[in-house]
Amino acid sequence: MKRLFAFLAALLLVATVTAQTDKPQPLSQEEFEALSPTPPMGWNSWNRFGCNVSEQLLMEAADAMVASGMKDAGYEYIVVDDCWQVDRDADGNIVCDPERFPHGMKYVADYIHSKGLKFGLYSCVGTHTCAGRPGSMGHEYQDALYYARNGVDYLKYDFCNNCGTNSKTAYTIMREALKQAGRPIVFSICEWGSTQPWEWGKGIGHLWRATGDICDQWEGRANWGGVGMTNIIDLVKDLYPYNGPGHWNDPDMLEVGNGGMTTIEDQSHFSMWCMLAAPLMAGNDLGAMSDDTRRILTNKDVIAIDQDPLGVQAHLSVDMDDRQIWVKQLANDEWAVCFFNRGDSEWKLNFNWNDIPELRSAGGDFSVYDLWQHKTIAKSITKNANSTIPSHGVFMVRLTPAK
Ligand code: GLA
Repeated sequence: MKRLFAFLAALLLVATVTAQTDKPQPLSQEEFEALSPTPPMGWNSWNRFGCNVSEQLLMEAADAMVASGMKDAGYEYIVVDDCWQVDRDADGNIVCDPERFPHGMKYVADYIHSKGLKFGLYSCVGTHTCAGRPGSMGHEYQDALYYARNGVDYLKYDFCNNCGTNSKTAYTIMREALKQAGRPIVFSICEWGSTQPWEWGKGIGHLWRATGDICDQWEGRANWGGVGMTNIIDLVKDLYPYNGPGHWNDPDMLEVGNGGMTTIEDQSHFSMWCMLAAPLMAGNDLGAMSDDTRRILTNKDVIAIDQDPLGVQAHLSVDMDDRQIWVKQLANDEWAVCFFNRGDSEWKLNFNWNDIPELRSAGGDFSVYDLWQHKTIAKSITKNANSTIPSHGVFMVRLTPAK
């Protein structure tokens, strides 16, 4: 009898220990906030593929991210946007599309991880996603456990069909669920700037969309409501005080390489997103990139401006209508300056560096490195900045204190 008792006690102990190790170890708030010290970089299916997603698409995107040199340039997340999910089962568990994801999401995550990349997916605050698929309302903790068990590293969380719920509360519920699920998951708030997420998003998510959807054009509104690239810049222009390591304004995903803008415009789009310290989520077909698209997306000199550890968003320093000078403070007393020609004619730039207020107050001299030509073009800023900037183009430089 004694023996049996000892045996049962031992069994109970083993069961308890096993249960404890199976139980997720929640992330502390500090651990959670540390997940995105620089703006996240990756690829998302939506801008190019919409609902036409599948395991094959994601796995090919992962292959192409490695083969194209994008991984080497810092891109990390492969994110499936809306439409991977079709239903909930009898227990309320989210169900992925069995035809498009026949092996389940863990299989996709494992493949992406095997390439040294990370995996992200999409859900929504509301009863249904923006494309009408099941949302997370009332299932937040269950969904967060599903993400953790399936190897998810990034969640984009939309705001459609939200039944009038308070945005801060809704995103806080999912943040708590993610922390409790115990897996480090970058949390991307996507409520389109509708309730000023820059005022409450820090500590709840790592990035927040600050605007409605981008569309693949220079300016203007598309018939479905998306706005052009330069309109998005104008919408986030004044939000620079809210940006910083771990909490980023998100001017939406990149349209570089999707065909609606010229190469010069795509280059300006990418330059400006890096000036804004924006998340860099490519949105094109990675397997079918032109040389120009690859050259733009993998420009490490420009990416280094985006990823600068100070995490400052550029602001519009000199505004001469269609001719703008954007300035971004970098770590180690360096600066990035982007001369942005939004006009229809060439800008024959001949500009006294000291007419840029930030440089005047910083004082001292700088060498000038051209980030698209990849070379030092001046050892001092005592001579004027000179360049011929095509219509819709940029001249973007890095200033380093002169020796
Ligand atoms: C919203 C988001 C987009 C995309 C779609 C998916 O419009 O803003 O980025 O995720 O939903 O349905």
